[in-house]
Amino acid sequence: MKKKANKTIDQLRRFESRNITFIEPDGSWPIVWERAKGMRVWDDSGREYLDFTAAFAVAAAGHANPRIVVAGQRQMAKLLHAMGDVHPHALKAELARELSRLTFERLAKQIGKTIFCSSGFEAVEAALKTAHLATGRTRVIAFEDAYHGLGYGALNATWRSNFRSPFRRQIGGFTSFVPFPRVKADLAKLEQRLAAECRKHKVGAILVEPIQGRGGTNIPPAGFLKLLRKVCNQHGALLICDEVYTGFGRTGRWFASEHFGVMPDLLCLGKALTGGFPLSACVGSVEVMDRAWPESNGEAIHTSTFLGHPVGCAMAIASLRELELRKLPARSAEMGQLFLGELKRLAKRIGRARCRPRGLGLMLALELFYDDSTPAADIALSVIKRLLKDGFILLPEGDPANILAFTPPLTVGKSHITKLIRSLGRALEEVYA
Ligand SMILES: Cc1ncc(COP(=O)(O)O)c(C=O)c1O
Repeated sequence: MKKKANKTIDQLRRFESRNITFIEPDGSWPIVWERAKGMRVWDDSGREYLDFTAAFAVAAAGHANPRIVVAGQRQMAKLLHAMGDVHPHALKAELARELSRLTFERLAKQIGKTIFCSSGFEAVEAALKTAHLATGRTRVIAFEDAYHGLGYGALNATWRSNFRSPFRRQIGGFTSFVPFPRVKADLAKLEQRLAAECRKHKVGAILVEPIQGRGGTNIPPAGFLKLLRKVCNQHGALLICDEVYTGFGRTGRWFASEHFGVMPDLLCLGKALTGGFPLSACVGSVEVMDRAWPESNGEAIHTSTFLGHPVGCAMAIASLRELELRKLPARSAEMGQLFLGELKRLAKRIGRARCRPRGLGLMLALELFYDDSTPAADIALSVIKRLLKDGFILLPEGDPANILAFTPPLTVGKSHITKLIRSLGRALEEVYA
């Protein structure tokens, strides 16, 4: 059995481009996934793991949720592919209608219009294009530590230099980065900074993750989004909330922006939208979308071959129904509170200077430090590897990657959390011994 895993890894080494799959020479990373169900993943030697990542926060209703799988299978047998912006299929219209209902109709009593895409970064790029067309302005304000994906458009607004710098001579550089506030006291300075940027440039949009994900589960102070809304209104810019990570219940509400009582002009959605098919969406208020985009005269100026893929749409409709019927956003809030309580207890035992938990809903993190308060990225990595050996799948985040992220399926049970906390406690005691 072990041989099979080695064959996969060996083939990847030989035939996949470098710089994609990270492979440890000692065989400790990665595992080769063979199947998954709910919280559980099996590798190709039959070993079982609990997945505390939901595979990048995608499997919100659990891996291979049977109702989502059946919806996808039926659709595959019926219509596997249609013609994006040309001859449509019914589910594309139905999903656009559903997204309008869940977003702008529910929260702002107006219609929302959708552009479908495949990946999260494309949804961000569709929003950036929309903002440019709607305002006629080129400048975008984004935040330090932001992650908006790696396409040439989105990359302009993704903060980390190791993603941007190899390509800096080709990307446009239309973004001004400002600090992401951590506490209320940061807001006054931020307001001044935003006003200065708006005076200096013709700002068309502020692009923001309401809670930063890959940047380290960073939760802003209460007035943050309201401040952005105010600045956008004052200066005629659009507010784009990138909820690719936080959307569909991850933080205990359907959308993280709801925690802050703010309605953006444009929402970027992806990941959990389908529970496992590459489909994403940029949803905007009807006013902004119609201002930005002219009627098509037969040649859409923004489209792609797989736009509104029928299988993705069928899965998304099933996934939204599953999230709604099982009240998974509320469950995320409830289980998240319990999980955060456990992480806090654990942090107290290991030492609060070393372990700092935070999070909202089931978007949780434990930030690790050395005793001299410097970020402990290598400790985080060794804990993650140790937990993989114990049968738990986790990922680090932040820069440096000293943060353990916990984003399990929203169906996670108490017993899964208890098991993880027990193993995590043992691993932390060992590394900090
Ligand atoms: C907030 C946010 N936006 C955009 C993206 C990019 O999505 P994708 O990797 O599907 O392009 C991500 C991915 O992690 C994300 O977290």
